[in-house]
Amino acid sequence: MDLSHDHSARLGDILKWRRDVRHFSTQPVAADVLARIEASVDFAPSVGNSRPWRIVRVMDEDKRRAVCDSFERENLAASHGYEDAVRQNYLALKLAGLREAPVHYAFFCDPDPAEGCGLGRRTMPETLAYSTVMAIHTLWLTARAHNVGVGWVSILDPQIMNDVLAVPREWTFIAYLCVGHPLECSDAPELHRRGWQANCATVWIDR
Ligand SMILES: Cc1cc2nc3c(=O)[nH]c(=O)nc-3n(C[C@H](O)[C@H](O)[C@H](O)COP(=O)(O)O)c2cc1C
Repeated sequence: MDLSHDHSARLGDILKWRRDVRHFSTQPVAADVLARIEASVDFAPSVGNSRPWRIVRVMDEDKRRAVCDSFERENLAASHGYEDAVRQNYLALKLAGLREAPVHYAFFCDPDPAEGCGLGRRTMPETLAYSTVMAIHTLWLTARAHNVGVGWVSILDPQIMNDVLAVPREWTFIAYLCVGHPLECSDAPELHRRGWQANCATVWIDR
């Protein structure tokens, strides 16, 4: 890497255009691009270098359907938590691109990996989950650098995810990612653009 070069403009572009994507083309992602996106996870930081993320490539149609069914159920259940007027707005939102996205990843976290020998997580075992989120974010930015979009789906029953994807029950389900070519790009969050939640200012506290 040329350490004398200023990379901030390109990184700024990637951060600005990253955005969560729910509207995907069904066009497949080229294998070499996908390989580079997947390889990026290896550059993520992790507590004690434990690399606790466990990633399932969800290719099987029946499994994808089961995930989709869980989303539909949980999304409907979530809508019932709102008053009528807000509920209509909620139901009008598109909160997952599960049917269209060509690539699906489920991220789990091993809550007790041998790797890292416990370093850094004695008082905060949740740092393993944070590490897994770092891997997701690394993949997310790399995908954007290749003009590929990522959508995070959390409106799911986590236990069903372990069961459907046949991974150990002890693993913590962290995220389900839809990946593919976006149908639209924006530098503003969709929830902001659709009037659900405007971007609020970050709270900084000086002490
Ligand atoms: C932990 C987490 C869970 C999320 N779950 C969902 C989800 O289930 N459905 C959805 O449409 N977006 C989901 N998102 C995306 C957020 O809605 C999105 O990041 C936020 O609105 C800001 O938009 P931006 O990512 O485009 O900046 C999730 C994001 C995070 C970080």
